[in-house]
This record gives sequence, structure tokens and C-alpha cells, in this order.
Amino acid sequence: MKKSNYFSLDFINGKFVFLDQTKLPLNEVYVETTSYQRIAEAIERLEVRGAPAIGISAAYALALSQKEITKENLEKEFNKAVERLARTRPTAVNLFYAIDEMKEVFELNKDSENIYEVLLNRAKEIHKDDIEKCRKIGENGLRIFKHKSTILTHCNTGKLATGGDGTAFNVIKTGFEKGLVEFVYADETRPLLQGLRLTSFELEKNGIPFKVQSDSSAATLMQQNKVDFVIVGADRIALNGDTANKIGTYNLAVSANFHNIPFYVAAPSTTIDKKTVKGDDIKIEFRNKNELTTMNDQKIAPDEYDVYSPAFDVTPAHLITGIITEKDVYSFPYNFINE
Ligand code: MRU
Repeated sequence: MKKSNYFSLDFINGKFVFLDQTKLPLNEVYVETTSYQRIAEAIERLEVRGAPAIGISAAYALALSQKEITKENLEKEFNKAVERLARTRPTAVNLFYAIDEMKEVFELNKDSENIYEVLLNRAKEIHKDDIEKCRKIGENGLRIFKHKSTILTHCNTGKLATGGDGTAFNVIKTGFEKGLVEFVYADETRPLLQGLRLTSFELEKNGIPFKVQSDSSAATLMQQNKVDFVIVGADRIALNGDTANKIGTYNLAVSANFHNIPFYVAAPSTTIDKKTVKGDDIKIEFRNKNELTTMNDQKIAPDEYDVYSPAFDVTPAHLITGIITEKDVYSFPYNFINE
């Protein structure tokens, strides 16, 4: 695979540009749009995905909803865009954080002549802020390394999932740059294969040695003493530290606990939901059954089969050794009320 720079999303010459993640790793296709509806669709289809990247995309989408709109339609269009974006993916709290930030800016500036520019500036700030948060997460994450380590990770938490260099992935990347990473095992992450398709793509681009394994192999790797620690990202963290992340994360936490292997979560503080006290209160997204019953657009099971397909699970806080944010590394028991 050719080495080149890549980015998940950006705002270039008045257009939102994103890398279509459904086509990775074989094809790097960038899509340009000025339509908030198209961005909402991209979030729903996981062309753009990962909690921080979803939030940043929604912020740009809300700014674009105000481009070339007559004055009398501004508010109506903005509310329509808010409603459309809020319906895309319910679990990633970064989406609602970004929507709330943009609503506040809209309310304060809706009579301004250049509301589009004002909203665009806020979206760019949210994006820039995430880049900095990722950098600090990588730096703080160095504290969890006791020696050169072999790490197991799940789903994708890198540049593709954020505005910057990633969360859990950036702990791995920063550790690798400091000579602290021996090897990475990437869970393939069924059913949409974010590990096989996206994390591998990013590990390869960064020259980090890795293997991909089926999700069901993770416990065996632990049993064979092949894993020093596990690190994953988060879509929403409750005040008590219970963490929603890609389905399969809870299995990993249980296995890690059984084998006495440290289990870490890395996320920006914008993923901590101040309105959610505990994991039971987190709304979990369920995905379309085709994502399980088809492969490469080929049907592999009869239409009558029903499926159980939550996109996320909740790992109870007591199974999490540490939560790394841009501010600090926290350990159990967690209480994020004042963070
Ligand atoms: O369904 P996805 O691919 O958006 O799920 C992504 C994850 O679960 C990530 O671990 C999480 O969003 C953190 S991304 C830094």
C-alpha cells in the first residue's frame, strides 16, 4: 500500500471534505460537499465515523445549513438541520455536544449579517480543539506504559475517528514513537470491520507492527500472555465511568479482568456526558440487519432471519483500569462531575 498522508475530514475552499471510510483500505476516496443533508447521510452510513469525527462533521454541517439562505428562512433551516443531524447516531455524545455548542452560537448571533461565517468559525474551533485534545491524550497516555508493550485494541480510534491523531490510537502512536510499543493486535471488529479495514490502515501508514485477529481470538491471546494491556476509545462516558464503546468492548474488558490484564479507555473530555449518571442511562444504537446478513453486498442468510445488532455496549467502570483524557489519567472509582 502506498504511503501517503490522509485525513478524515476538513473544510477546504468553502466545502466539507471527508474520506469515505466505507471504501478503505483498498480505495482512498475523498468526497466534497456543501450540503448538510449529505453530511448527515455520511454519518449514518459510517462514511464518516468515530465519536469526535461525528461531532466535528455535525458542527460543519450546521454552519453549511446557513449558507446562501434567505434571511427569513435562516432559523427554520437551522432547526431542520439540527433535527436531521440529531437523528443520525444516538450514542456518540460528541454529536450532541457539537449540536449544543452550535445552537448556542446560533441563538446569540442569529440576527448577524454573517451568521454562516460565525457558525463556521465555531465549527473550526471545535475541530482545532479536538486536534489539541488528541495530542494531549497521546502525551498523557505515555504514563500507562510500564515497559515496551504489546497492546490489543478494538474498533478504530485514530485519525479517521477524530479531528486530530486519535484517542486510544494516539496513545499507541505516541508510545510507538517513544520506543514503547512492541506490537499491536487489532480486533477485526465485527460486523463492520473497523479494525480490519481502518485500524490496520492507520497502523500500516504509521509503520507500527501489527496483526489483525477475529474478535473471538482476543481471549486466547490473553490466555497465552501475549497482551500487556488493552486500550479502546469511547462513544459516551457516564459520570461514574461506565463507558459505551463499539460492541465487543465489554467482552474484552471481562476477558482482560479475568486474565489480570490492565484495560484502558482513552477519550476527550467532550465524550464525558455530564447528563448521564451511569451506563444504564446511555442510549444504544441498533444497526440495520443487512450489516450482519450480507457480506460485500452478497446476501449470506435468508431475509427471515432476525438479528441482534447493537452498535455499542457498556463496560462497567469497575472493569476499567484507567480513563485517559486530555486532562489527566483517572482511575477507578471515577467521578467526573467536576471535570
Ligand atoms: O460505529 P463507529 O465506527 O462510529 O464506532 C466507533 C467507536 O466505537 C470508537 O471506539 C469511538 O467512537 C471512539 S473514536 C475516537
